[in-house]
Amino acid sequence: MLNAEKKTCKYNEQLCKYYEQFRVYADRILALSNDSLEKTVAVALALCLVCAVLVSLATVALRPLQSYNKALDMKKNILDVAGLLQEDTDIDEAFKERIEAKLVDLATGEYVDGDVDEYDQRKAAKDPAQNEVIPTDKDIASIRVKAKVAKVFLVKSGDKLQSIILPINGYGLWSTMYGFLALEADGQTVQSINLYDQGETPGLGGEVVNPNWRALWKGKKVYGENGEVALALVKGTVDTSRSDAVYKVDGLAGATLTSRGVSNLIQYWMSAEGFAAYLNKIRTNG
Ligand SMILES: Cc1cc2nc3c(=O)[nH]c(=O)nc-3n(C[C@H](O)[C@H](O)[C@H](O)COP(=O)(O)O)c2cc1C
Repeated sequence: MLNAEKKTCKYNEQLCKYYEQFRVYADRILALSNDSLEKTVAVALALCLVCAVLVSLATVALRPLQSYNKALDMKKNILDVAGLLQEDTDIDEAFKERIEAKLVDLATGEYVDGDVDEYDQRKAAKDPAQNEVIPTDKDIASIRVKAKVAKVFLVKSGDKLQSIILPINGYGLWSTMYGFLALEADGQTVQSINLYDQGETPGLGGEVVNPNWRALWKGKKVYGENGEVALALVKGTVDTSRSDAVYKVDGLAGATLTSRGVSNLIQYWMSAEGFAAYLNKIRTNG
């Protein structure tokens, strides 16, 4: 036993030395009066060290759980815009059963190969190897850069395509808003919009998350008769007697700038800069 102890200590000689020095120092500190400055500082430092170690351990240990919850939250947003989210929905199960993720080359509108589960479009938009700087005159959504490849989600009922969920983003008044636009299989009729990540003022621009406002989008059309992006928000309420009412959505009261931001991001992402090539293929090829 003695030999083993000696051997361990010999093997970690330097460590043993540090430990001995630490013991001597700790004993000296503990023997000091509680009012002494040296003891107060030493105890505060020791406490900081213990807390730092605990926080670091917690961060490392909780990382897998954080990643899982982040992915789960994204699936929830997608199911929500697809109209497949109820209170008792098993998110993982419903997502696996009904949603298929695909990667789309925005320039050609073609599907491309790649690890669709691992691909993160928001990260790709920040990576010079995967992104594209948007010329200022075309950057109506004020996003400066975009990923060349987008991750879209197809909602299927058996083998039949039911809807297409497209990622969209653009600047409002205070923040870049991120969301999804769900279109029916015709690539033209809106099913729903979900701007799940935004920093607009609650009660004003933040009303983009209001279910009543979101419901106004259902059935609206994206492209006009000449193929132009006609879908936009109006100031106030839509005049339903007008022939273009099917392309218009009520603006948010007291939030003209956020409303303009939503119009701009729709105009951008539905144009040739965004998903026009892809949606064109969907419309012609089915
Ligand atoms: C504290 C504060 C927060 C605001 N937040 C928003 C906002 O989130 N979105 C927005 O468009 N306008 C917001 N506004 C209002 C704008 O400054 C601007 O007045 C408004 O967009 C004009 O729209 P209106 O013509 O509908 O009133 C905010 C104003 C204040 C004072």
